[in-house]
Amino acid sequence: MKRCLVTGGAGFIGSALVRYLLSGQEDAAGVSRVVVLDKLTYAGRRENLAECGQDPRFSFLQGDIADSERVGQLLEEEAIDSLFHLAAESHVDRSIEGPEAFIQTNLVGTYRLLQAAHEHQKKMKNGQNFRFLHVSTDEVFGTLGAQDPAFTEETPYRPNSPYSASKAGSDHLARAWHHTFGLPVIITNCSNNYGPRQYPEKLIPVMILKALAGEKLPVYGDGSNIRDWLFVDDHAWGLTTACFRGVPGESYNFGGRAEVSNLELVKTLLSVLRELGHPQATEKLISFVKDRPGHDWRYAIDGSKSERELGWRPQETIGTGLRRTVEWYLKNGDWIRSVQDDGHKAWMQANYQGRSVTVGILN
Ligand code: NAD
Ligand code: DAU
Repeated sequence: MKRCLVTGGAGFIGSALVRYLLSGQEDAAGVSRVVVLDKLTYAGRRENLAECGQDPRFSFLQGDIADSERVGQLLEEEAIDSLFHLAAESHVDRSIEGPEAFIQTNLVGTYRLLQAAHEHQKKMKNGQNFRFLHVSTDEVFGTLGAQDPAFTEETPYRPNSPYSASKAGSDHLARAWHHTFGLPVIITNCSNNYGPRQYPEKLIPVMILKALAGEKLPVYGDGSNIRDWLFVDDHAWGLTTACFRGVPGESYNFGGRAEVSNLELVKTLLSVLRELGHPQATEKLISFVKDRPGHDWRYAIDGSKSERELGWRPQETIGTGLRRTVEWYLKNGDWIRSVQDDGHKAWMQANYQGRSVTVGILN
């Protein structure tokens, strides 16, 4: 039986993972406890876990991963044997506006969590069965040109933004705690996630909400940047297989097999919105705005190791996944109203006001 702690479990991916762990599906069959530790920053929402509240295996604690004492107590009291570490500051644009929080949570927080986990593991009866799953990103590998092969687990690290540098640093710490102290760490690096409950600061929910409101759609630069899109529930399944089947000391990549340019993605989203009865979602709304500084051009993941060794493979295509995503936002007006609070309005203003110079509008 597995007793799991999910840090950042009230966020977008963390809450999908919690739902997967409690789902009873084959790869989560042995899960007897799921505890969430989350600071509830702007990105963490209790409502993301609303469906889990009735499950006696589930419990929630508001707290900071950097609070070693509290984390240590929690690991011991709950007899945790599987720690999924997702808590992080996760938005690249915010890391450019204010890097400090990224250093504090992603680096210092991860260091404190590793220490607490190591202390706990040493005291466990079967400490060799403990797992620390460190969830990271493909951005640590830097940027690719059009003809470059996709990132593998062997690709050297070349982070370019304060966010990716802080994640790269946390990956190195996790690796060192395995190598030096023998903590059973597994690292995962995945591509851009999308799906229900993604906070509207990331590309897809920003575009959905703006298109519904008939507002201009701010595409950075010329829209040619490429991302590889992974549906969040596929990622949640992948993380579960990595933790329960992966080998300590190894890392695993997860990708969506869905590389697409930002401009193409926005056009597809608009057509899904029109198909679902929203004629205002036209390409005339697309507006090219000032680019993100240091903007990585292309990410692409080679997920063949995970597919081979973990028996994992993305189930959603970009077509089916985008439709599910748009349908979720259309049905969940209460969630949208709740996240579009003053803090959200302030961020939208801060991020987009300086970019308001429209470089071009699509005809
Ligand atoms: P998110 O921003 O939606 O959620 C992050 C969660 O962490 C929030 O619930 C927040 O309250 C919590 N948190 C932040 N600081 C904390 C702290 N100090 N202590 C405890 N909790 C804290 O992020 P997400 O998109 O769900 O990403 C989850 C993880 O996956 C992150 O580590 C991110 O780097 C990684 N990742 C994300 C993507 C993506 O496309 N979203 C892709 C690759 C990797
Ligand atoms: O690749 C994995 C990473 O994907 C994760 O590690 C990060 O946590 C996650 O935020 C995401 O990073 P990106 O910077 O790729 O995601 P974002 O949604 O912010 O942007 C996706 C692309 O869209 C990127 O090329 C920038 C562009 N963009 C974004 C926004 C918010 C726009 O053109 N306009 C926008 O308004």
